[in-house]
Amino acid sequence: MRSKSSFKGQTTQVIVLLSSFSIISVQGKNPGVVRTKLLGLKKEEKLSHFRSYWHDIVSGPNPSSVAVVKPVTNSSTGFGFISMIDDPLTEGPEMSSKLLGRAQGFYGSASQKEAGLLMAMNFAFIQGKYNGSTITVLGRSQVFNKVREMPVIGGSGLFRFARGYVEARTHYFNLTTGDAIVETPQIVATHFIILSLLSSFALILVQGDDQDFVRALDRKLLGLEKEKFSHFKMYWHDIVGGPNPSSVPVVNPPTNSSTAFGLITMIDNPLTEGPELTSKLLGKSQGFYSSASQKELGLLMAMNFHFIQGKYNGSTITILGRNQVFNKVREMPVVGGSGLFRFARGYAEARTHTFTPATGDATVEYNIYVLHY
Ligand SMILES: *[C@@H]1O[C@H](CO)[C@@H](O)[C@H](O)[C@H]1NC(C)=O
Ligand SMILES: *[C@@H]1O[C@H](CO)[C@@H](O)[C@H](O)[C@H]1NC(C)=O
Ligand SMILES: *[C@@H]1O[C@H](CO)[C@@H](O)[C@H](O)[C@H]1NC(C)=O
Ligand SMILES: *[C@@H]1O[C@H](CO)[C@@H](O)[C@H](O)[C@H]1NC(C)=O
Ligand SMILES: *[C@@H]1O[C@H](CO)[C@@H](O)[C@H](O)[C@H]1NC(C)=O
Repeated sequence: MRSKSSFKGQTTQVIVLLSSFSIISVQGKNPGVVRTKLLGLKKEEKLSHFRSYWHDIVSGPNPSSVAVVKPVTNSSTGFGFISMIDDPLTEGPEMSSKLLGRAQGFYGSASQKEAGLLMAMNFAFIQGKYNGSTITVLGRSQVFNKVREMPVIGGSGLFRFARGYVEARTHYFNLTTGDAIVETPQIVATHFIILSLLSSFALILVQGDDQDFVRALDRKLLGLEKEKFSHFKMYWHDIVGGPNPSSVPVVNPPTNSSTAFGLITMIDNPLTEGPELTSKLLGKSQGFYSSASQKELGLLMAMNFHFIQGKYNGSTITILGRNQVFNKVREMPVVGGSGLFRFARGYAEARTHTFTPATGDATVEYNIYVLHY
């Protein structure tokens, strides 16, 4: 097992989180030693439950959700579109009910076969002691499924070090027909239940909390007792050429940089057991990668590995990290998961297995190491 360090602001303090919720600090001048007590971090984390309604207003004069990238192919799922959102979060299903905050970020279609979104959002709360605190969600949403589960990958303020998951259920959906003129906003209100593991300094979880949308939970109820450490190996196929690419550029680089700085490619890449594309399909890697480096080829990758086999069917692992594709081994953090991978943490090692310059196709071996329950 390895520990990963994370830099915190310009003071570059390093706090390392290890398994079993123990929190230690690292020796050394810079990064400096941090006494975990200074941050109010104790061994015990708390589990809490939040509920709010998310309003995705796509029509009318004041949409909260605006398409910023149009799909480049004709897929029925709108593969490649990206919408930026600033969606209201309310206490009840009505737009007029108490405003708890806003969900800010984007979602994009990262699936070629079914309606499957990659969602990246910060829930920014404005009420009471939560005012100014945020919860960050990054995951996969199959919008037509009754319940969709997405990982909470972090937070700020009272939600520092948060992990957890969100359950989203569509409460109301107005599907406009044909060329009807819609005069009032079309609203999709989604009911979110957030289960989040928090460090105990976040003293928000007392029973009888004055915030109606929060309640404390017993972690035993969720089976959150002993973490497991698992290793998964699979092959990731980036099919760029040919008639059926799984990887499609949706934003072209605005400058002539040799690294294609600014490029965004949406992917729905097969994950197989062996290096051959014909070997057993384990799932899909859905999300995007983009060039975020001006000097060397360095990608930002945001992907949900969605598995379809055996007991992992329906579970996902979320990866968000930096990929220097010409390095022999690239390491990226696992920032969360859903289903059997709820509360997952870990890392992935990527090694290029084959690269075909003529087509741009690549097969990459992924070894994923995760702590989960
Ligand atoms: C998209 O579909 C329309 C109608 O089916 C067709 O005319 C058009 O050529 C297609 N475009 C692409 C890029 O496949
Ligand atoms: C939340 O904080 C902001 C900035 O500190 C403040 O202006 C605002 O009034 C606060 N809102 C509530 C509901 O307390
Ligand atoms: C959808 O919205 C339109 C415009 O506001 C409204 O006339 C219609 O009744 C709504 N449909 C449903 C099923 O709620
Ligand atoms: C980019 O490259 C093309 C072709 O090499 C050239 O015509 C164009 O002027 C370049 N643009 C910039 C902004 O450097
Ligand atoms: C995975 O789950 C889906 C939906 O529950 C089901 O349709 C599918 O047959 C399952 N696949 C396997 C390989 O078990």
